[in-house]
Amino acid sequence: MSKPTALAILIIALSYAFLFSTSPKPHYHSLFLSSSFSDNASVALHLRTLTLRPHVAGSLANAEAADYVRSVFTSSNLIKSHVVTYHVSLTYPIHRSLILTPTESSKAITFKLEQEQIGDNPYANEAIPTFHGYAKSGNVSGPVVYANYGRVEDFARLRDEIGVNVTGSVVIARYGEIFRGDIVKNAYREGAVGVVIYTDKRDYGGDEWFPASRSMPPSGVQVGTVYNGLGDPTTPGWASVDGCERLSEEAVELSGDATRIPSLPVSAADGEVILKTFVGEDGDNPVGPGPGILNLSYIGETVIAQIENVIGVIEGEEEPDRFVILGNHRDAWTFGAVDPNSGTAVLLEIAERLGKLQRIGWKPRRTIILCNWDAEEYALIGSTEWVEDNREMLSSRAVAYLNVDCAVSGPGFYASATPQLDELIKLAAQEVQDPDNATQTIYESWIGSSNSGAIGRLGGGGSDYAPFVQHVGIPAVDVRFGKDYPVYHSMYDDFTWMEKFGDPMFHRHVAMASVLGLVALRLADEEFLPFNYISYASELKKSAEDLEKEKLGHSIDVSPLLKSIENLFTAAQEINIEKEAIKGAMKVRELNDRLMMAERALTDRDGLSGRQWYKHLVYGPSKYDDYGSKSFPGVDDAIDNARRLNTKASWEHVQHQIWRVSRAIKHASFVLKGELT
Ligand SMILES: *[C@@H]1O[C@H](CO)[C@@H](O)[C@H](O)[C@H]1NC(C)=O
Ligand SMILES: *[C@@H]1O[C@H](CO)[C@@H](O)[C@H](O)[C@H]1NC(C)=O
Ligand SMILES: *[C@@H]1O[C@H](CO)[C@@H](O)[C@H](O)[C@H]1NC(C)=O
Ligand SMILES: *[C@@H]1O[C@H](CO)[C@@H](O)[C@H](O)[C@H]1NC(C)=O
Ligand SMILES: *[C@@H]1O[C@H](CO)[C@@H](O)[C@H](O)[C@H]1NC(C)=O
Repeated sequence: MSKPTALAILIIALSYAFLFSTSPKPHYHSLFLSSSFSDNASVALHLRTLTLRPHVAGSLANAEAADYVRSVFTSSNLIKSHVVTYHVSLTYPIHRSLILTPTESSKAITFKLEQEQIGDNPYANEAIPTFHGYAKSGNVSGPVVYANYGRVEDFARLRDEIGVNVTGSVVIARYGEIFRGDIVKNAYREGAVGVVIYTDKRDYGGDEWFPASRSMPPSGVQVGTVYNGLGDPTTPGWASVDGCERLSEEAVELSGDATRIPSLPVSAADGEVILKTFVGEDGDNPVGPGPGILNLSYIGETVIAQIENVIGVIEGEEEPDRFVILGNHRDAWTFGAVDPNSGTAVLLEIAERLGKLQRIGWKPRRTIILCNWDAEEYALIGSTEWVEDNREMLSSRAVAYLNVDCAVSGPGFYASATPQLDELIKLAAQEVQDPDNATQTIYESWIGSSNSGAIGRLGGGGSDYAPFVQHVGIPAVDVRFGKDYPVYHSMYDDFTWMEKFGDPMFHRHVAMASVLGLVALRLADEEFLPFNYISYASELKKSAEDLEKEKLGHSIDVSPLLKSIENLFTAAQEINIEKEAIKGAMKVRELNDRLMMAERALTDRDGLSGRQWYKHLVYGPSKYDDYGSKSFPGVDDAIDNARRLNTKASWEHVQHQIWRVSRAIKHASFVLKGELT
């Protein structure tokens, strides 16, 4: 693609002006944003109710929370709601112990593995004991080795620079850089027999801690899953309906996604005790192995539990068979005030505002579906099973999926999206006042912030957008206020923390409901879908140029990719212009279908090599970091592989993967053009 010409820029500007001045229902949209429609007290009440008790997936408390969500959907009137249940494999801790023998002659220390109760929360004792979801059961022992963040490069440094042999050791690593399941996987690959992951004060703590400050208390533990896949491990690729086909426990263990060695999460305080055993160090560079010995025991039970997705539907008036889907999960490791119920409170606020709009006569053009997922924490299970259950319907009818998980943990707006939605998010952020600054909009604050209004991408496995984007190819958005927060997945992520530190007046929650709700309303009501594929082409071009800069050698040729991106750029310009002249419901519909289906073209039925469930060739996780959101995951994997093997065939495979992505992008431009070859 050449630099956009002045003419192209003019055309883009005109098409935006056109796109957003023809909204048929602007009156309703501004009412949706008005203060008479929004209610911080009701958001706070929703959050307080949802977070009263710890409500892990499969628990009675979580079933009660589902009833609450459904009752709000129902009382928002007019929203047809139902519950979709699945029967899925979950794990709970039965036995945990961790014993440290600092030196051969010293007395063993048995860790309590308990988070200290703070305040007088009567339900604190209902919190699940600290553990890793789907951790391997077993008793192991070995000398301790410190592996920093447990990344591939951390282990490479241990092996190649420091000369440490990890085989037979128990690794201690700290949270904070990569997905915990990848820490365990990386340690296993180096020969470790067990893993302990701790919360380092340097990353999550401070001199003061909750309830005096927002920091993690010394006894706080980040619970979480270590499973690397998506969905119920016993039903890979199909829905976990009652009586369905299921893999045996042995088959699940043999799948590449299960961890092979036991692991436990521990607190900052326990981590410090373990790190002190490394001798002859200044404290900054503990390594091992030993002299400390860790005996780690974890026994979990696997159960088939019932989970519940609560679904609310507002049927579209003109195009009921086109779906705009909003989603958030409900299940939490403990109280879940930030993760995920700030998002649930936002979803319920949106439901209530849409209820009010309906009462004064508004009906959406397209169908809006509100989804409250279960068992996200274990492996994005509720959303994944539902997507697998409804794949063909979603593939042919879903316009977009809008996700909100940790809606609020502090100030500062962050958004991630597939790029055709970038412009719409920015426009919505321009309509809503920054909850932390009365003199400007969210957009102005966002542009002025350290991330300068950058929009992240959805290649990681971080939340429920993953099955929609990565399995089916549905355009998606994920938004939040505040980024990382120290009490993540601990017992202290509760209503008190939110009230004191996360959102003292609940204005951020209200603002989030406004932005996300407005994005949903425009997608549901605009005559033309507010998608712009020019930003998609630019984004792809950046990734392709990054790839080119890597100078891979081995006659790797990136030009097919650049050429297909140029075609996409042209097709995106053409459809933006075409929109201006089109008249007639059928023609509008036909053009919208092209906009909707272009994203699907970026998926491939064979999926990523060796990871067939992942169909999207542009957005998917990288193999060694599930949080990593790289472009062209198949190409990245192939490069990793070729660098290791350095054979002719492995480099040819890199070229093959580049061709595959190029073809997918070419198909996306065919879809936008609406022409057969
Ligand atoms: C592991 O150790 C615990 C006690 O620490 C014991 O109850 C359990 O039976 C042991 N399991 C195995 C498989 O050895
Ligand atoms: C590491 O230790 C294990 C067991 O002691 C041994 O089998 C392996 O060869 C060692 N690896 C290296 C690279 O020295
Ligand atoms: C730890 O495990 C080893 C090997 O099973 C055993 O010899 C040792 O006694 C255990 N230490 C403690 C303190 O339980
Ligand atoms: C609020 O925005 C104004 C610009 O409109 C800026 O000057 C001011 O520093 C901001 N205040 C805060 C607290 O960020
Ligand atoms: C809602 O906002 C108002 C100020 O706009 C504030 O006085 C009130 O305390 C807030 N309500 C809650 C529950 O935080």
